[in-house]
Amino acid sequence: MTGTVLFGGDPVAQTLLIPLWARVVEQHESSPLLEDPLAARLVEGIDADWDRIGLSRGDLAQIVVRARQFDRFTRDFLTREPVATVVHIGCGLDTRFQRVDNGSVRWYDLDLPAVIDQRRQLIPESDRDHYLATSVFDRAWPDDISVETGSRVMFVAEAVLCYFETDQVRDLVRRLRDRFPGSELVSDTHTPHALRMENLHLALIRSPARMRWGVRDPRELESWAAGIRWVESFSFFDDIEPRMGFPAWIARIPLITHATGIHRYLLGNPQEQRDHTIPTSPDVHPSS
Ligand SMILES: C[S@@+](CC[C@H](N)C(=O)[O-])C[C@H]1O[C@@H](n2cnc3c(N)ncnc32)[C@H](O)[C@@H]1O
Repeated sequence: MTGTVLFGGDPVAQTLLIPLWARVVEQHESSPLLEDPLAARLVEGIDADWDRIGLSRGDLAQIVVRARQFDRFTRDFLTREPVATVVHIGCGLDTRFQRVDNGSVRWYDLDLPAVIDQRRQLIPESDRDHYLATSVFDRAWPDDISVETGSRVMFVAEAVLCYFETDQVRDLVRRLRDRFPGSELVSDTHTPHALRMENLHLALIRSPARMRWGVRDPRELESWAAGIRWVESFSFFDDIEPRMGFPAWIARIPLITHATGIHRYLLGNPQEQRDHTIPTSPDVHPSS
C-alpha cells in the first residue's frame, strides 16, 4: 500500500491508510455520510500508493458508515457522560476527537510510536486531546490516564482489535475491566468466515497485515470476566446505506448479516472503587 516505508514498516499501522482514504474520498460525494474536512490535508503529507487500496465505491462507503457509527456511539456516551474520558485505541490518523468533541471530554489518542510521531506533525496535540505513543498491550499506559472523580471512561477501538490474537484481546479487555470498572468499550468484530474474506482483500492489495481475532457471537466477550456485558450492536444490514451497493435480499442471509458488526460493552460495575481518579477540576462542568 505504501511506496515508501511508513509508520516504522509496521503492517497493521499501514492499514490506517484505508479508512483515511475512505474519509477523503467521501468528502467528494454530494452529501457526505461523514464530514471530515481535515482528512484531505492529512493525506497530502503521506507518500503512499493510494491506488493500491483497491476498494470499490461501495466498500469505501461501508468504511465510512462504520466510522459514522463509531462517532454515534461516542457522541451518545458524551451526551450521557459530558465530563468523561475517551481513550481512542489505534486512532491512526482519524479525527474523531475533532468530530465529536463536546467541549469538556478528556480525550486520549493512542497508537504505536511511529504513528503518533506522524500524527503529531499533522494534527497538533491539544489541552484535552492527549497523545499516547504506545502499544495498547503495554501495561504501563493506563497509569497515564486521568479520570475525573465520579466520571466514566469509554474505550473506542475501530478496526484495531481484529488484528490481534484472541488471547491478547481477552487479556486486554480483562485488564481494562479491572482497572476501569464501569467503563464502556466499543469495538467492531468479524466472524471467522468474514476474517477470511478481509484477509483475502489484504493479500490482494499486497498488505502483509492479517486479521486474527474473530467471534461468532458478540456476546462471547461476556464469558471473559464477571461484569462484562454486551449492551447493543449496530449491523450494516438493519438499515442498508444505498451507497454500500448491497441488494436488499442480502439482509436475509445470516452468514452475511452476522459477518461483521459494531458493539458496545459495559466493562464491570461503575460502583466499584476506583483509585486512579483525580478530583474534578473547578473549571470543567457538564454542559447543560
Ligand atoms: C485499520 S487501522 C485503524 C485506524 C483508525 N482506528 C481508523 O479507523 O482510521 C489500525 C490501527 O491500529 C494501530 N495499531 C496497530 N497495532 C497497535 C498496537 N499494538 N497498539 C495500538 N494501536 C495499534 C495501527 O497503527 C493503526 O493505526
